[in-house]
Amino acid sequence: MDISIIIPTFNEGKNVQVITERLKEALLPLNRSFDIYFMDDSTDRTPDRLSELAAQYAFVHFIHRTGNRGLAKAVVEGLQLASGKIVIVMDADLQHPPELIPEIIDKIESGYEMVIPSRFVPGGSDGGLNGYRRFISWTGRMLARLALKRIRGVSDPTSGYFAVRKTVIAGKTFHPIGWKVMLELIVRAHIDKIAEIPYRFDARSHGSSKMNAAESLKYVLHLFRLVWASEEDRRFYLFCMVGLSGVAVNLAVYQLLLAGHVHVLLAFIVSSLVSMLGNFFLNQFFTWKMRPPTNAFAWMPRLIKYVIVSCSGIGVSSAIVSLVHYFFHFSPILSGILGIVGGVFWNFLLNDRWTFNARKTNVLSEVHLLEESQTVIHHVKK
Ligand code: GDD
Ligand code: MN
Repeated sequence: MDISIIIPTFNEGKNVQVITERLKEALLPLNRSFDIYFMDDSTDRTPDRLSELAAQYAFVHFIHRTGNRGLAKAVVEGLQLASGKIVIVMDADLQHPPELIPEIIDKIESGYEMVIPSRFVPGGSDGGLNGYRRFISWTGRMLARLALKRIRGVSDPTSGYFAVRKTVIAGKTFHPIGWKVMLELIVRAHIDKIAEIPYRFDARSHGSSKMNAAESLKYVLHLFRLVWASEEDRRFYLFCMVGLSGVAVNLAVYQLLLAGHVHVLLAFIVSSLVSMLGNFFLNQFFTWKMRPPTNAFAWMPRLIKYVIVSCSGIGVSSAIVSLVHYFFHFSPILSGILGIVGGVFWNFLLNDRWTFNARKTNVLSEVHLLEESQTVIHHVKK
C-alpha cells in the first residue's frame, strides 16, 4: 500500500461519509494505492455509518475499539495496522482539509520524514478555535517547545494532522497519554526532517470538540514523560539533581571532618573536592551516560576538563553576583541566587559541549522560510 490514512473517531456519524468522499477525490488523481482506517471509540451510532462505508468502499476499514479507549491510543493502534508506506493521521470533522494531501505526499517523497500541516506558518490560520481555547493551545505549544529540543523548530507541535514515512516509525514503541500522538512520534522515533505546510483550521462542520481540562492535564504529564524518555532533554535536569546531591555530600563530609577536629578551612576545601569528584562520576555515568572506560584512566582528561569548567563556573557566578549587586543594587540574597543559576547554566553547557562532548546530531537547528512555496523546512545540523 502506498498511502494509509488514519482517522480517529468519537461520535462523528455525521462527518465520516463526507470525509471519505473528499479523501477519495483528493487521492484518486495521485495514482497511488491507498486505504483509510477509522479508529473508532464512539458510543453512538457512528459504527453503523462506518460499516455502511466499509461495505460501499473496499478501501475503507474500521476498527471499533472497546477497551483502551482514547485518541492517541486509537491512533497508535492504527499506526500498527496501517501498511501504507506513507501514513497520514487526521481528524474526522473536516477541520483538517484532505485537499492538502497531494502537497503532503510531494513533500514526503522529496525526502522529509514527517510533514505537518501548520496553522502557524505564513499562509496558515487558526480560525477554528475560540479565544480561550487559543490561549490554552498557545500555552501548550510553548511548553512543548521549552521542554523538548526536537520540537523547538516546529510551529504547530500539537497538530492532530500529520504525515509520516512508515519506515521512520517501524519497530518503535509508543505509549502516549492523552491526545498528542505526533509529539510522541517525533521524540521517541527521533524524527528530524520535518516540513510544515500552511493551512486554515476552520470551525467544525458538525458536532463539538472533545477537548477538555482533563486532556490539558494529561498533556502536561505527557510532556514530563517525554522529557524523561529523551536523553538530550532530561540531561539538564539530571545535572541539576546531581548538583543538589553534591551539596548534601559536601555538607556531610564537612560535618564529619569537623567532628574529627580538622580545621574549618581545610575541612571545607576537602569536602568541596570530595563532592566535586563525586559529581564528576555521577555526571559521567548517569547524566551523560558515558560507557565504562576501557582503560582505568580514560576518565582522567575528562576529570581535568570538569575541574576547569567548575572553576570557570565559580568565576562566572562571581562576575554575575558583582554585576547585579554592585551595579544594579540587587539584594545580596537575590544576587547570590542569580549567580548560582548563571553558574549552573554555564557549567552545564560547557560540560555538555566540551567535557562530555555530547554530539549535537539530530537536533533541529535552523528554520528557513522558502518564499515561493511558503514551506518551512527544518535543516538538520549533523
Ligand atoms: N478514537 C477516538 N477516541 N477518537 C477521538 C477521541 C477518542 O477518545 N476523542 C476525540 N476523537 C477524535 C474526534 O472524533 C476527531 O475526529 C478527532 O479525534 C479530534 O477531536 P476534536 O474534538 O475535533 O478535537 P479539536 O478539533 O478540538 O482539536 C483537534 O485539532 C487540533 C488542531 O490540529 C485535535 O486533533 C487536536 O489535537 C489538534 O491540536
Ligand atoms: Mn476538531
